[in-house]
Amino acid sequence: MTVFVAVTGASGAIYADRAIRALAEHGVETWATLTPTAADIVRHELSLAPGDLGGADARVTWFACDDLSAPPASGSSCADAMLVVPCSMGTLGRIAGGAADTLIARAADVCLKERKPLVLVPREMPLNLIHLRNMTALTEAGAILLPASPHFYDRPASIEELVATVVGRALVHLGVPNVDQPRWSAPPDR
Ligand SMILES: Cc1cc2nc3c(=O)[nH]c(=O)nc-3n(C[C@H](O)[C@H](O)[C@H](O)COP(=O)(O)O)c2cc1C
Repeated sequence: MTVFVAVTGASGAIYADRAIRALAEHGVETWATLTPTAADIVRHELSLAPGDLGGADARVTWFACDDLSAPPASGSSCADAMLVVPCSMGTLGRIAGGAADTLIARAADVCLKERKPLVLVPREMPLNLIHLRNMTALTEAGAILLPASPHFYDRPASIEELVATVVGRALVHLGVPNVDQPRWSAPPDR
């Protein structure tokens, strides 16, 4: 399985780092790209060079985000699934509008037309009506909107564990096999 990971200029670069690590841990081939703003945010939030996202074991194939002839841009050579993490409202709007003018917008467009899983992890607050309408349009077109909205019910003890609650759900929706997700069960005293 191949997953195309697009990292955009929203806060939450740690979600992209964790997602690329998790894909490698599951033996998934990873293609990736990032926008110029995402590169700045990766440096600022993680003190990492963008190419080091996912760690040394990740074996990521990187593409320039303006390379419209890269494999993810074509229905005949695209990945099996695509993850936009974190997803800015700017990129979300471009995908919703069908602009297909960057590698990310085009690859997302391809996923939708080829009926392949497209999982977007938006991060913005509060949301305006344009954001909400764009999310509705994307959901109607078949994308999965999976907000960077971690859960707390298994009492995460660190930021990494909190982040993993979102990334794990994203992997499930991408169709990655054998993802071990904690399942909610009510405590015995309830
Ligand atoms: C430090 C920083 C944090 C940002 N955080 C967010 C965010 O959480 N969500 C968002 O939608 N935009 C955020 N933005 C704005 C986007 O980066 C901006 O709209 C950009 O044009 C998005 O382009 P891109 O999607 O091509 O990266 C942030 C910008 C900066 C500089």
